[in-house]
Amino acid sequence: MRHRLIIGNWKLNGNKNITKNFIKSLCTELSNISFCDIAIAPPAVYLYLAKQEISNINISLSAQNVDINLCGAFTGETSADMLKDIGVKYVIIGHSERRTYHKETNDFVAKKFQVLKQSGLIPVLCIGETQEENEAGKTEEVCSNQIDAILKTQGILAFQKSVIAYEPIWSIGTGKSANPIQVQKVHNFIRNYLKKQDTTIAEQIIIQYGGSVNDEKKATEFFMQPDIDGILVGGASLKLNVFISIIRAIATTNKNLKSELNIIK
Ligand code: 13P
Repeated sequence: MRHRLIIGNWKLNGNKNITKNFIKSLCTELSNISFCDIAIAPPAVYLYLAKQEISNINISLSAQNVDINLCGAFTGETSADMLKDIGVKYVIIGHSERRTYHKETNDFVAKKFQVLKQSGLIPVLCIGETQEENEAGKTEEVCSNQIDAILKTQGILAFQKSVIAYEPIWSIGTGKSANPIQVQKVHNFIRNYLKKQDTTIAEQIIIQYGGSVNDEKKATEFFMQPDIDGILVGGASLKLNVFISIIRAIATTNKNLKSELNIIK
């Protein structure tokens, strides 16, 4: 069964104190939470510090990037094995900010996906269209091309125990989150696209939405959709109370989880 997953992508933000205090408070506030997985993705330099502060089993660590090589003369890079070594579970790849500012192509992102699978880490594959592509009705074409780069090189089995994050570029950091019903349609398209290859894998894959989810109300609207399994939170993941309220939205949208609400202070 797929489960709910919320990842806080801190991007290029934070410092030693923020990392320590945030993780410590998060663990206290969410003690014994069991209805979803939560991961924090601080900058690479703070990953190890964050790991040392994590005291709840359902709070994990995510990296924001990885190199395609495992070791060698690649100055400035971080390998999948190194991330694994310090206790990282998820790794965000293909984020639009890396595709834009670092010119990462679909083929290059596919190589990252492969190295993560080989190292036993969980890729969080970001896909999504630009504003222009959206207006031209090309959302499905863009998303399927981004997925195809992995399907063609690694096959559908690579998507077992993987995560896809649909992040329409025009909604990232703009305060303009996409319409939950339209997002549901895209998520359903993604799941059906994978279903053509393998129904079980498609049913089990976690598909997150990301883009200006800044409060509990918005998060609730997304969680009410059947194919939206989680949120990749950007800016709001740096505000402890807001981040917790987004997590709280999961429990309020699922009757079976309401009994667990009392464990979130
Ligand atoms: P915002 O939530 O700040 O829009 O960022 C979303 C995102 O890019 C997460 O990876």
